[in-house]
Amino acid sequence: MEKAELLYEGKAKKMFATEDKQVIWVEYLDQATALNGVMKDQIQGKGELNNQITSRIFQYLTKKGIDNHFIDILSKTEQLVKKVEVIPLEVVVRNFAAGSFSKRLAVPEGTLLPEPIIEFYYKDDSLDDPFINEAHIAFLELATPAEIQEIKLIALQVNEALQELFAGIGLQLIDFKLEFGRLADGKILLADEISPDTCRLWDSDSHEHMDKDVYRRKIGNLVPVYQEVLARLNNYSF
Ligand code: TMP
Repeated sequence: MEKAELLYEGKAKKMFATEDKQVIWVEYLDQATALNGVMKDQIQGKGELNNQITSRIFQYLTKKGIDNHFIDILSKTEQLVKKVEVIPLEVVVRNFAAGSFSKRLAVPEGTLLPEPIIEFYYKDDSLDDPFINEAHIAFLELATPAEIQEIKLIALQVNEALQELFAGIGLQLIDFKLEFGRLADGKILLADEISPDTCRLWDSDSHEHMDKDVYRRKIGNLVPVYQEVLARLNNYSF
C-alpha cells in the first residue's frame, strides 16, 4: 500500500489517502497540545508511543469483539485505518470524577461514580468543543437518536473491556474520550485513537497520573510515563 496525498493534519496526527479509497494512512506526530492548543510542545518520541499504544488497544478491542477502524500497524509512527465519515463528537466516559467534571460540579477527583457517566462534546475548535446533550446533537443533526443509542452502547462496551485490560496492568481507568464515524453503508464504527492522550489512567497502587495530565498539569516528563504504559501493555497477553 502506498501513501498518497495529505488529507488532513490535526494536532497529533496526519492523515493520508491511499490507493484504496476505503483506507487511510495515519502518521502520529511528536506534538502535544492541551487547552485547545493554548499549550503546544514538540515531544520527541510521543508519536511512536501513541501509535504503538493505540494499535495495541485496538487489537485488544478487536479480540474482545468490539469492531473498530484499526487495520494494521505499519511502522513505529504509522498505521492503516478504515476510512469513516467522522461524527464531530467527543464521547467521554467517566468511571471516577476528575478533570472538567470535578471542576464543573465541585466533586473531588478520584470519587467513584456509582455508574459510568457518558458525556458529549461538540468537536468545534472555534466554539472550544462545548459540552452538549442529546437534544443539541439532534438539533445540530450531528447524529440521529438511533445512532446516539448505538454510540452509547459501544462506549459502555469499550469501557467494560478497557477497565479489564487496564486493571490487568495495574492501572485504574478514570475516564476516556472516544470518537466515532460512519462507514459507507452507514454503520457506526469506533475510530480515532485510544492512548494516554485520550484516557486518564492512574497507577492502581500509587495513584500516580500515567497519562497526559502529566503534561497538562506540568507534573513531569510525558515520555517515560507513556513508555511505562506501553511496556505494561506489551507484557499483557490477550
Ligand atoms: P475532561 O475531564 O478534560 O473533560 O476530559 C475527560 C477525558 O477526555 C480525559 O480522559 C481526557 C479526554 N479528552 C480528550 O481526549 N480530548 C479533549 O479534547 C478533552 C477535553 C478531553
